[in-house]
Amino acid sequence: MTALAQLLTKRLQEEGSMPFSSFMAAALYHREHGYYTSERGRTGRAGDFFTSVSVGPLFGQIMAGEFCAAWERLGKPDHFTLIEAGANDGQFALDVLNWAHQHRPDFLRALVYQIDEPLPRMATLQLRTLNSFRSQVTHDRVDAAAHGCYFANELLDAIPCRRVRFTGGRWQELHVGLDAEQDFCWLEREPEDRALVKRLAWLGEEFPEGYTTEIAPAVGSQMRLAAARLEQGYLFFADYGYPARDYYAPQRTSGTLRCYRQHRAHEDPFDAIGETDLTAHVDFSLAATTAVQSGCEVLGFLDQARFLTAAAAPALRDMEPPTSAAWQRQFQTLTHPAHLGQKFQFLVLGKGVSGHTRPASLAFARPTATADLLDPVFRAVEDEA
Ligand SMILES: C[S@@+](CC[C@H](N)C(=O)[O-])C[C@H]1O[C@@H](n2cnc3c(N)ncnc32)[C@H](O)[C@@H]1O
Repeated sequence: MTALAQLLTKRLQEEGSMPFSSFMAAALYHREHGYYTSERGRTGRAGDFFTSVSVGPLFGQIMAGEFCAAWERLGKPDHFTLIEAGANDGQFALDVLNWAHQHRPDFLRALVYQIDEPLPRMATLQLRTLNSFRSQVTHDRVDAAAHGCYFANELLDAIPCRRVRFTGGRWQELHVGLDAEQDFCWLEREPEDRALVKRLAWLGEEFPEGYTTEIAPAVGSQMRLAAARLEQGYLFFADYGYPARDYYAPQRTSGTLRCYRQHRAHEDPFDAIGETDLTAHVDFSLAATTAVQSGCEVLGFLDQARFLTAAAAPALRDMEPPTSAAWQRQFQTLTHPAHLGQKFQFLVLGKGVSGHTRPASLAFARPTATADLLDPVFRAVEDEA
C-alpha cells in the first residue's frame, strides 16, 4: 500500500466517505504524496505518459509562431504577457522562448512569460529549465488583467472531476469509501453539490441503467479564472475531450476516467494511489460555455491536426532549407490521426478581439463545430457565472 493510500484509508475510517473529486485531488496534489507534488509526475519516454511537449520542440515552436502572430494582430504592444498554466518542467516555455530568441527578437523584447504554478516544486524546476531566460520569466502576476495570450496543454484533464452513475432511474454521485476488508470501494450518494446537480438536471434521464460518467464543475471555475486573466487577447486550450453531446452519448457507458502508470493505461484509480496519473476527458461544452459567460468568444474548436497544420503554414513557406527529418517526424506524431492529431482538440477563445483579423491557424475550423459545442441543450453551468 502506498503512503498516500494509508493516509486516505485513515481519513476514510474517520470520515466515512469522500466525493471522488476529493480523492482525485489528493491522488494528484496531496502536498507530500500527490502524483504531481512528489518526484513522480513524469512525462516522456521514461515517464508515465507522452504529451505534445514531450514529442520534441516543434509543438512549442509552432505555438511560438502563433503567439507572435497574435502579438502582431494586436498592434505589437510594448508589453505582451504569455500566461502558461500547467507548465510541468518548463520545457514548452523553453521551446517558445528559444524560437523567439532565434527568429523574432522584437517579439521576445515585448514578451513576459508568466507561469501559473500552484506547486512550489514545479516552480523551482521551471526556473531551472528557464535559467537562460530568467529576466523574461516570472511566477508573479504581471497585471491584474493582461494583454497577451493564455495557453494550457493538458491542464483541464488534470482537474479533479466528480463521478456519477445512473442507477434505479436517477443520478447518484460516486463517493470513495472502505469496504468490510478496509479496501477502497465506490459508494453511491445523493448528489448535493449545486453545480453538479444543475449539470445533471440538464443531462436529463435518458441513460441506460449503470451508466457511469464524469462531471467536472472545477473545469468551469478554471475557465472563469483563465478568462479573468486577460483584458485583451487569445486563449488556447489543448486537451483530449468532446462536446457534451458526444461526451454524454448514451453508448459511452463507463465514462472517460483513465489511470496511467509507466505507459500502461487502466481504469482502477485505487491502484498505486499517488504513483499513478488520474485523468478524465474534458467536456469542452462546459469549458466553452463558461468562457463565453466570462466575456470570451469561441473563435474555433478543432482537432490538433487541423490547428497545427494551419498554424505551421507560414513557417513551412519560409523554411530554407526544407524541413529536416526530425521536424517531419515530430510533425507527423503531433498531427497524424493515429498519433496525437485527432486525439487532441484545440479550443481557441478571444477576449476583446472582435474587431481584429481571425487567427490564420483557424483556417480549417468549422463554424458547425462551435455551434455544436455551444448547443443550448448542454449550456448549463453554474448560475453565478
Ligand atoms: C498533464 S500535466 C500537463 C503537462 C504539460 N502542460 C505538458 O504539456 O507536458 C498537468 C499539469 O497541470 C498542473 N495544474 C493542475 N492544476 C493547475 C492549476 N489550477 N493551475 C496551474 N497548473 C495546474 C499540474 O500540476 C500538472 O503539472
